Amino acid sequence: MKRILSGITPSGDGSLHIGNYLGAVRQFIELANPSTSSGQAHECFLMVADLHALTTIQNKEQLQRNIEALILNELALLGDLQNITFFRQSDVPMHSELQTILNNVTPLGLLKRAHAYKDKLQNPSTPLRARDEIEEDINVGLFNYPMLMAADILLYKPNLVPVGKDQKQHIEMTRDIGDRFNRTYKTNTFKLPEPYIPEEVAVIVGTDGKRKMSKSLGNIISIFDDETVIKKQVMGTYTDPTRVHANDPGHIEGNMVFTYLDFFGEKEKVAELKKQYREGKVSDIEVKNYLFESLIKTFGSARERYGDLKAHPEKVKHVLEKGAAKAREVSSATMREVRDAIGLTNHYSFFRYS
Ligand code: ADP
Ligand code: TRP
Repeated sequence: MKRILSGITPSGDGSLHIGNYLGAVRQFIELANPSTSSGQAHECFLMVADLHALTTIQNKEQLQRNIEALILNELALLGDLQNITFFRQSDVPMHSELQTILNNVTPLGLLKRAHAYKDKLQNPSTPLRARDEIEEDINVGLFNYPMLMAADILLYKPNLVPVGKDQKQHIEMTRDIGDRFNRTYKTNTFKLPEPYIPEEVAVIVGTDGKRKMSKSLGNIISIFDDETVIKKQVMGTYTDPTRVHANDPGHIEGNMVFTYLDFFGEKEKVAELKKQYREGKVSDIEVKNYLFESLIKTFGSARERYGDLKAHPEKVKHVLEKGAAKAREVSSATMREVRDAIGLTNHYSFFRYS
C-alpha cells in the first residue's frame, strides 16, 4: 500500500483558507479516500508541524491558540479518519533526533539555497542593510527549517508528499538529504519521496487577483469564519475592472470569482453563468452570491464538524493520542535503522527503540 504524508505549520492565526484547501488539504483527502483516488487506498500521515511554527511565533499564548485552531480546522476538513494518522509533530520526539543526525550529512550550501532563507536575506523592506546585519535577525531554526522538514518526511518513508508549489523545493531538499545519508552510510534506510502537486492548484491566486492567496497578505477566503466574514471576502473579490455596468460584456479570464467557481460551483451552472457574464446578462453581485452559496455548501459538513469538535475536546484528544502512538511506532522503527546505520548502537548501548 502506498503511503502519503503531509504537514501544515500553525502559522498566521492557525486557520485555513481555500488556498490551503485547494493547494494541499484537498489532495490529501482525495488520496486518502479510495473512492476518489482511482480506487487505491493509501496509508496517510498528516501532522501539525508545531515545532516549525517556533521559527516565527515566540509568544506562548499565540502558539497555543494557533495549534488548537489548526487542529480543529484540519480535523473538521478530514471528516471520517479511517486510514489517516493525524498527529502533532511535538508529540513525536524522533523528529528532533533525526534532524540532529541529518545536520551532519547536509552541506551548508544546500541550506543557503533554500528560498525561505534567501527571501529573508533579500527582504525588499531593508535593501540597504548589510548581509551580516540581516543575518543577526534570522534565527537558526528558520535556516534549518528544511532539515526538520526532511526529518518529518524521511521518518515515515512515504511515496508521495502532497503540498502546494511553494513547498516543492523542500521536498527536493529532502530527497537530496535522504540520498546523502544513504550514500554516506551505504544503506537504503531512506526512501526518496515524490512531491504531489497538481498543476491546476499549484498556486491559488488571492481575492486581489494578483498575488498568491496567503494569510499574511490578507487576500484570503476563509473556511471556518462566520458567514458574514466569508460573504465580505467574497464580495471584495477581484472580478473584471473593465466592466462598469452589469450589462457590459465581461471577461472570465483572470476573474477570480470564476476561478474559484470552477472549483466550487456546479459545472453546468458555472458554464451558464460564464456565458451570461460574457454577454452582459448577469451582474457581479449575482455571480458572487452564487460563489458564496457554493462555498457554504461545499464546506457545510466540515463547518458543522468544526462546531462539534470544538464543543467536544475529548474527541480531539482521542484522535491526537491515537495518532501520536501510531506515529511513534512507525518513526521508532526508522530510528532503530538509523542508529544502527551510523554506529550509535554497540555492546554498550542500553537505549533501544522498541
Ligand atoms: P499561508 O501562505 O497562507 O501562510 P501556509 O504556508 O501555511 O499558507 O501553507 C500551508 C499549505 O498550503 C502548504 O502546503 C502550501 O503549499 C499550501 N498553500 C498555501 N497557500 C497556497 C496557495 N495560495 N495556493 C496553493 N497552495 C497553497
Ligand atoms: N513546511 C510546510 C508548510 O509550511 C509544513 C510541513 C512541515 C510539511 N513538515 C512537513 C509539509 C512535511 C509536508 C511534509 O506548509
